[in-house]
Amino acid sequence: HKASDPVSHIADYLGKAASADPLAVESVPTAPIAGQKPGTSGLRKKTRVWMEGHYLHNFVQATFDALAQEGVKVADGTLVVSGDGRFFNKEAIQTILKIGAANGVGRFWLGKDGLLSTPAVSAVVRSREGGFVPFGAFILSASHNPGGIDEDFGIKFNCENGGPAPEKLTEAIYALTTSISEIKLCPAFPHVNLAALGVTAVGERVRVEVFDPTDDHVAVLKQCFDFAAIKRLVSRPDFSLVYDSMGGVQGPYAKAVFCTELGLPASSLLNATPLPDFGGPTSAHHGHADPNLSHAVELIAKMGLDKAGSPIKTPAPPPVFGAAADGDADRNMILGANFFVTPSDSLAVIAANASAIPFFKQGLKACARSMPTSCALDRVAAAKGMSCFEVPTGWKFFGNLMDSGSGAFADKPVYTPFLCGEESFGTGSNHVREKDGMWAVLAWLSILAAKNEAPDAPLVSVSDIVKAHWATYGRNYYARYDYEGVDKGAATKMMEAMAAQAGASGTELEGGFTLRMLDEFAYTDPVDGSVSRQQGIRLVMTDGSRIVFRLSGTGVDGATVRLYLEKYEAPDGDLAQHPFEVIKPLAKIALAFSKLTEFTGRAEPSVIT
Ligand code: G6P
Ligand code: ZN
Repeated sequence: HKASDPVSHIADYLGKAASADPLAVESVPTAPIAGQKPGTSGLRKKTRVWMEGHYLHNFVQATFDALAQEGVKVADGTLVVSGDGRFFNKEAIQTILKIGAANGVGRFWLGKDGLLSTPAVSAVVRSREGGFVPFGAFILSASHNPGGIDEDFGIKFNCENGGPAPEKLTEAIYALTTSISEIKLCPAFPHVNLAALGVTAVGERVRVEVFDPTDDHVAVLKQCFDFAAIKRLVSRPDFSLVYDSMGGVQGPYAKAVFCTELGLPASSLLNATPLPDFGGPTSAHHGHADPNLSHAVELIAKMGLDKAGSPIKTPAPPPVFGAAADGDADRNMILGANFFVTPSDSLAVIAANASAIPFFKQGLKACARSMPTSCALDRVAAAKGMSCFEVPTGWKFFGNLMDSGSGAFADKPVYTPFLCGEESFGTGSNHVREKDGMWAVLAWLSILAAKNEAPDAPLVSVSDIVKAHWATYGRNYYARYDYEGVDKGAATKMMEAMAAQAGASGTELEGGFTLRMLDEFAYTDPVDGSVSRQQGIRLVMTDGSRIVFRLSGTGVDGATVRLYLEKYEAPDGDLAQHPFEVIKPLAKIALAFSKLTEFTGRAEPSVIT
């Protein structure tokens, strides 16, 4: 029954590899597989699903078909393929090479060992030397989701600007997965040794280049920051730093930046070896390479914090600065000694101190945040008279703003230098088209360096900087409730019921709040005019406090309801409370309004962050 069994069909070809023409193209029959719809950040599924039959092949071929449909020139083009090192990373790369070669790719760029962080892919696409401009990149990652044969795997496609594929492309890919009938494949394409640096010729037409994954990214970072100034800071006897790569792909980058460039000892680094399961269940972070208070267990203990971000006693004084990255190194968490900086505050502080960052020397032109991110950034933007955009969740929405004024958008205003970020631990600028965990850390170290130029003055700490920020702009107390593994149908019904009440205003609510606005967030991209609807429910109070409901776009099964709560306190108010307490009255309103318990059966959130 071989003809109808595509797996053995491919295996048969693989057996013939040695004698066959490495670039001979075979057409392998296939059939659509349901559910290949990319979410907020690529297609994420259980690893075993990706390993089965044609799952990977269909998605990759559909991507090539979508590129052809969109008029992207693949023939003899350059393609980047690499990932965060999770289980199945290397095997998937070999398969993508076979399909890519058959679809006309002329040059493959691979990070050594198949590793490239998400921001490094963006840097490689945009600026790698050699005169080749890639038409795109496959990033093999499910971000912070655990890796392993029983965990998650994922693929994102990035375009020639180095940013995530726009919705138009991901929708085309999905549509094509529902009608796919053929995979083009070079069955005899040789197995590439990912551990060996250099260029290999495959037949007449194809070149495979394996390079150090840190080269291009570190070069870009060195253009953004004054490494000498940061080195002076980290060399101070009263300064100390700890960085947690959480077993993800950031390890090699952390070594290159902190040890090679900045001269810090290897003991400053935690979990700096990339592992296929990020360390798995026995690691302190249980294989969750996710930089937040719930998962970065080892780091937060060292920094003298509990899971609620409150200070705890430590045997030795905590380091001055702590940070972490997620599996593919685009996320970041910033900590001071006994002090947690929320991602929303981090973004606002970087905006307020942009002059300390060489990349922003000519002045920040514009900034942006995702809708659920707190409005702390807006206050800085207003004070500095800069444009501030509110976009849907997902990094791709920032990309068009960064590309405005150039290329296809040459007739639109220029918004760069540009700073943006999200509550979901993402921060970045237009140096690349992805969020960048290392960039955020170097931005903070630049600010600390600027505040600590006098070598003999007492050290200005992370918490000093954030508290001074609140005293100037006020504090946007913030917390997020997550309800994980909720029934999808129930969650959708709940969202629809809330959307049906859009337009309400003026209602007086418990706790002294008055509703100013209730809507379902929709976004018209000011650069390409595309419209994204149903991006979450917003309730905005007359004092600026907000309640936001959204369904997660990154889950693998079921639904996750996210409830974001924010209360503004003016500079002369009480700035020293615990956020979880401050937002409780808003949570009460939110739960009554959404009827969350009635719809989902959940009384308590799975996590509060
Ligand atoms: C990914 C994207 C981010 C986005 C986040 C939201 O990390 O790269 O841009 O903010 O997903 O995740 P969620 O689960 O809330 O949809
Ligand atoms: Zn990530």
